[in-house]
Amino acid sequence: MDPASIPYYPVNEFGPLMKGLVIGGVGILHVFLAQFAIGGGLLLYYFERIAQRGVKDARTFVDGYFKILVLVSFVIGALTGVAMWFTTIQVGARTIGLMVDEFHWLWATEWVWFAVEIVSGYAFYRFGPRLDDRTRRRLLLIYAGAAWMSLFWINGILSWQLTPGKWLEGAGMWAGFFNASFWPSLLFRTAVAATLGALVACVVINTMDLDRERKAALIRRASRFAAPMAVMPVLAFWFVAIIPADSRQWLMGGSMPMTMFVGVAAGASTLIGGYVVVGLIMKKLYINGATATLLLVLAFGATAAGEFVREGARKPYTVRGVLYSTSMTPDEVARLRTTGAVTGDPYPLRDEARFPTAQLRHGAKVHRALCDACHTLHGANALVELTRTWTDDQLRLNVAKLQRTKAFMPPFAGTAADVEALIQLLRWEAAGTPATWPVSDAPGTLAQIKTWLDEVGTAATPPEGGR
Ligand code: HEC
Repeated sequence: MDPASIPYYPVNEFGPLMKGLVIGGVGILHVFLAQFAIGGGLLLYYFERIAQRGVKDARTFVDGYFKILVLVSFVIGALTGVAMWFTTIQVGARTIGLMVDEFHWLWATEWVWFAVEIVSGYAFYRFGPRLDDRTRRRLLLIYAGAAWMSLFWINGILSWQLTPGKWLEGAGMWAGFFNASFWPSLLFRTAVAATLGALVACVVINTMDLDRERKAALIRRASRFAAPMAVMPVLAFWFVAIIPADSRQWLMGGSMPMTMFVGVAAGASTLIGGYVVVGLIMKKLYINGATATLLLVLAFGATAAGEFVREGARKPYTVRGVLYSTSMTPDEVARLRTTGAVTGDPYPLRDEARFPTAQLRHGAKVHRALCDACHTLHGANALVELTRTWTDDQLRLNVAKLQRTKAFMPPFAGTAADVEALIQLLRWEAAGTPATWPVSDAPGTLAQIKTWLDEVGTAATPPEGGR
């Protein structure tokens, strides 16, 4: 029962953005660049091979600025990768800590591949023009292979967060790594990487100083790389079929924002896929720079929407069944119901002087510990606005039975007094933060909240939403 045994980490606040959005934003940029660096690498290797077989202009393409784009993207990809670490330790220190503990050596392996990718990519960039054909081919193969391998390793760790499966029953690290969503997401991301490579290549080819015939010949080659788009619907259905039932329900209408993002991702991908497969590959149409850029922007939108859905589908967990988005384990939720949500939280509030009463300060700490991973008070997913029209008792009931209010929220991890402090904070904020505010501690109110907390229990809502 010792609340001090729960590790509290200093966490940051990001103003009107909620934490989930901050990590999501950095993540989307990183994923997009890193996936392009993989597809671009494969494409470079392919063009190098056909150049050595005598295909005209392919060498110009490889040594031109496509190479530079691939390198720039992997440099920015690497920097945003570091940014991910900096963000994640401020947003979910415990989650990333668990991931590092569990997959320590796999993560080290991923880093080795990453180092190989950097070294070979840079070596090609710096010395490529002076090397003989065989070395050039080898270097590009190593670059592309290493880039893909770093995806292979990171993909296992990320997909484990959503579908840890047998790992939960103690089946060990490899069972966690090769989890149910490992293959569909690896193949899906590989297809995306190839498509991004093809689209950027089409943009670049259009800038080359060649006549239209010769450009068209290169474009026909490059667009073959987007052919895997054709199997993406199958991979997407596979992914949706193996994710947990509750996550699937949200994607299929249970949560409108998520359903809409699924629609955006699927719609944009269908448009790109249709254009590439029917227009470029089957009908052998020419694509100009503007159209290729437009498709690339659509692909960015699809990536952003897809990552949002993947992250969202995991709620209320960061590691399914193990750690809630609030960085607490299910056992700890039960313990905090008696000890109080913030009894062991050693960190002061940033803006303590704002609050006229101790109860409001307490409420602010409860909000920080239990809600602000996914909500803000006034900005994104603003609690004050979501609840403004509710009566006090409606608010108390819905917060006490949080996992029933929406299944993608964790159970409330605190006492009746914690609930009431949070409710008072929300009401005080909704009233425009007046200078005085009454303390609310009527025994009847607290007893009623306690009854609700006991009724709903401390387990998350089961996947079928059953009782
Ligand atoms: C794992 C993320 C997560 C956590 C943690 C979380 N919420 Fe939510 N909550 C959501 C999402 C997502 C919604 C849906 C917003 C929407 O539908 O627009 C939501 C909706 C709500 C709503 C509106 C429900 C409705 O039916 O309109 C309330 C009230 C709410 N949350 C309160 C809280 C409180 C209080 C806490 C902290 C004790 C909390 N939430 C913690 C994700 C979370």
